[in-house]
Amino acid sequence: MMNNFFEAIRQEILPLFKDDVTGHDMNHIDRVISMSRYLQQKEGGDLELIELSALLHDISDHKFNGGQLNKGGEVAEALLIKNGYSAEKSAKVKAIVDHISFKGAKTEIGVLPIEAQIVQDADRLDALGAIGIARTFAFGGNRKQALHDPKLNPKHHESFEEYVNAKTTSINHFYEKLLLLKDRLNTETARKIGQKRHDLMVEFLDHFHAEWTFNVLVNE
Ligand code: ADP
Ligand code: NI
Repeated sequence: MMNNFFEAIRQEILPLFKDDVTGHDMNHIDRVISMSRYLQQKEGGDLELIELSALLHDISDHKFNGGQLNKGGEVAEALLIKNGYSAEKSAKVKAIVDHISFKGAKTEIGVLPIEAQIVQDADRLDALGAIGIARTFAFGGNRKQALHDPKLNPKHHESFEEYVNAKTTSINHFYEKLLLLKDRLNTETARKIGQKRHDLMVEFLDHFHAEWTFNVLVNE
């Protein structure tokens, strides 16, 4: 796309992500942009809108803005308009950004425009596999949440509020969200990549529980 414009926006938001240690830093954003470009080549959609939405998808996340919901789209739109982008296309980016975030196991919305499907897939793929595992424990540590607690069972949350507020562990997060994502990917291309990353997480969890149990048995 208009490379200079994209680069200018990227530079402008860079400071916002500088100190993040929760797996939502600029490296995450850049991976979501690359993956979105790859998915767009295979699946179609408007590349310019996809790139800008990927760039801005975490711009005002509820986890980092003091709990305000659905601010991301608004902030993205205002930033684009301020930089001279057309009001019509800025509104499209707002709609895409508003659609992307995971809101709990039992919440789901209807069919998304292809651009939102792609950026959502790219964001979800980055929550899976080796990087997904690393991000989960980074996020959990930052939130002062335990690695694992066998007495605390995973829950499938009925609403977004319940999902965000519930006490959990990093291991439970796999069952509450990450293992559900492979069946919630929108595009065929993402599903192929997602399956491999899913399998790796299942293998990781098998090892984790085996090692945990081994240590418990040794103590008895
Ligand atoms: P999305 O942006 O798709 O809504 P999130 O920003 O909620 O997804 O999550 C991004 C990543 O942050 C997750 O995939 C996971 O690695 C981590 N994360 C989010 N919530 C938790 C949690 N409660 N415990 C551990 N990791 C979490
Ligand atoms: Ni993200």
